[in-house]
Amino acid sequence: MPLVTTKEMFAKAYDGGYAIGAFNVNNMEIVQGITEAAKEVNAPLILQVSKGARAYANHTYLTKLVEAAIIETGLPICLHLDHGDSFETCKSCIDGGFTSVMIDASSKPFAENIEITKKVVEYAHDHGVVVEAELGALAGIEDEVQVSAEESHYTRPEEVEEFVSKTGCDSLAIAIGTSHGAYKFKPGTNPQLRFDILDEVSKKLPGFPIVLHGSSSVPQEFVKMINENGGNMPGAIGVPEDQLRQAARGAVCKINIDSDLRLAMTGTIRKFFNDHPDKFDPREYLKPARAAIKEMVKHKLINVLGCDGKA
Ligand code: G3H
Ligand code: 13P
Ligand code: ZN
Repeated sequence: MPLVTTKEMFAKAYDGGYAIGAFNVNNMEIVQGITEAAKEVNAPLILQVSKGARAYANHTYLTKLVEAAIIETGLPICLHLDHGDSFETCKSCIDGGFTSVMIDASSKPFAENIEITKKVVEYAHDHGVVVEAELGALAGIEDEVQVSAEESHYTRPEEVEEFVSKTGCDSLAIAIGTSHGAYKFKPGTNPQLRFDILDEVSKKLPGFPIVLHGSSSVPQEFVKMINENGGNMPGAIGVPEDQLRQAARGAVCKINIDSDLRLAMTGTIRKFFNDHPDKFDPREYLKPARAAIKEMVKHKLINVLGCDGKA
């Protein structure tokens, strides 16, 4: 099976009340951990590559790893550019075999966001590639500084129809209280996504796929593993999984997860070195790290996204 776009995946996910997991990949063990989990539970997948991942691992290595995963699993897999920052980056991924790109011009003024997104959509659609765009800026805590979650940071539902009709984008990432990284909410507070905004957006865009970024739940077992083995991540808090499940039942068709992969991998490797200070063969510590990713992703596919058995 060749790489697929998200068109059919999202249509089925919307109707079926589940979401597709979009997991960030940076190396072979991460690709293997995620795809082995998806194969075991027969789930469709989006594997996404950031600009940083392309700079780290190289475009060709990453696309070939994903092609290898398709050969090994036979699953429908979409290869997606995460947070494309310009037309040129998107074009390079479209020309280089990706089946989906995100143009993230959400920090630009509304009219400029429309203009750049439209340009990417025209080129992508001419080449059979789908486009995710973003409206609104993710709020949260960065570098242990609280970025105040003012209304202006959230997506404005009154803007979404005009944005989608003028750009022709295929899916839309919105800001309803998730944020990137491992420090999403203030310790001691009650994390709560803005489902009122999600509801308004979905009413204005019936049947249209919505995307949530910053959706790691920051499993405390991995934070503990990191902290107990020489790390220092106090107050790392993520999005409650039951709220992600609720979003997946509605219009949210794609849920982005990266930090949880990093935590699983880092926690496992830290523990390995603490338990075996004499070992130095990378295969010995990457093997349990890959297994930890696999178990964590399986849990997400079944209990959070609800996309098991949907491939
Ligand atoms: O949203 C960002 C993703 O977690 C990718 O992170 O740019 O460090 O690869 P990165
Ligand atoms: P997390 O940092 O919550 O994993 O978000 C990842 C993401 O949104 C990638 O685009
Ligand atoms: Zn993101």
